[in-house]
Amino acid sequence: MNHFQYRNGALHAEDVLITQIAEAEGTPFYCYSTATLTRHYQVFAEALSGLDAKIFYAVKANSNLAVIKTFADLGAGADVVSEGELRRALAAGVPADGIIFSGVGKSQEELAGAVERGIHQINVESQPELDALSGVAKARNAEMDIAIRVNPDVDAKTHDKISTGRQEDKFGIDIADAVETYRRAADLPGINPVSVAVHIGSQLTDLDPFRMAFTRVAELVRTLRDQGHTITRLDLGGGLGIPYRDEEPPLPEEYAAMVRETVGDLGCQLAFEPGRMLVGNAGVLVSRVLFVKLGNSRRFVVLDAAMNDLIRQTLYDAHHDLLPVAQAPSNAAFEPADVVGPVCETGDTFVRGYPLPPVITGDLLAFASAGAYGAVMASTYNSRPLVPEIMVSGSDYSVIRARQTYEELLALDSFADWQQDDPLRRRSIG
Ligand code: LLP
Repeated sequence: MNHFQYRNGALHAEDVLITQIAEAEGTPFYCYSTATLTRHYQVFAEALSGLDAKIFYAVKANSNLAVIKTFADLGAGADVVSEGELRRALAAGVPADGIIFSGVGKSQEELAGAVERGIHQINVESQPELDALSGVAKARNAEMDIAIRVNPDVDAKTHDKISTGRQEDKFGIDIADAVETYRRAADLPGINPVSVAVHIGSQLTDLDPFRMAFTRVAELVRTLRDQGHTITRLDLGGGLGIPYRDEEPPLPEEYAAMVRETVGDLGCQLAFEPGRMLVGNAGVLVSRVLFVKLGNSRRFVVLDAAMNDLIRQTLYDAHHDLLPVAQAPSNAAFEPADVVGPVCETGDTFVRGYPLPPVITGDLLAFASAGAYGAVMASTYNSRPLVPEIMVSGSDYSVIRARQTYEELLALDSFADWQQDDPLRRRSIG
């Protein structure tokens, strides 16, 4: 359920008319609903009630400070994968001890920053990372709680590029090597291996891969305990899918029931790292039609948004429904359209043959389910400034990220020393 609905034929975000935002702020823009963010969090939290569980919002899905703060205010921690995300989580009010640092490659500086700030847990993904973290923590006289992320060799049956739990994927330590890795970790100074982490992929629409992975993790925990390790926590990752089109992902209660079945009797504190299911359907990308171009065989609808603003269709062949902001009349003829952006490559095609009512220059279209992995994956390709993000709450809206200006777009570049007009700034190269 989400709060982007038609009223009197006009698309609203909660009680705000999308056209009103478009007129005031220009297009394209991302628009998020606070009510949907809150509802999704609460539904998931309620499903987990009775379990010793905490939600660590996966910041990578949407790292806008206002979005993180919305969850932090509801009691969420944060799952971060970089120094930048760590700083965002802290800036949004997530306490350091509510932060988990995941990811397959953390720099020495990132490890040091996490240790110095005293975060809740670092998820380690390789033996060299264990050694590096041990060195960093020891040098600071710290004792860092860690999880070792295991790779359970389970196919999540999702898109190849977002599947992370097969042996051939780069993530985690092979579950077959886990016992040996814990043994070595226990001997290393500065680290405290208290948890097992697993995350097998994103946009899962079936519970079976989760069940298989969690069952393997439960077996591992029993083995580790038999060998004298004190495992008090489990990190079960994220990954629960959302409906983009006709998918029917498991309900949060079904997911929670499977969690109880597989790991419920271990007495572990459970960490969850949902991203997409909290924010995906809480956001849309609103764009204006620049031109409608009638080719010999196709109707091309050229938008002012492009693959640099929302890359999921290009990168993962993902589907995002298109909602005409002015609802089509019931007798409108829906004809196939190829909806494209202005970027100079054919890959900048959002969808082919999509049934759209007649549209003309100036009409607004909204891509649904764009709250997760939308704005965060945007780039300035073709020197197109990053688009703004808007948050709605009831009848209020607020710009939570300004549109990038052309001055900002150019600001980090400079001429090489020898290209400067001022001869004093020229350095000899020879
Ligand atoms: N935890 C870890 C360790 C992860 O790697 C991820 C996502 C999550 C949690 C959150 O997963 P979620 O609940 O959102 O499925 N850009 C891709 C998705 C990449 C997901 C990466 N990892 C997309 O647009 O589909």
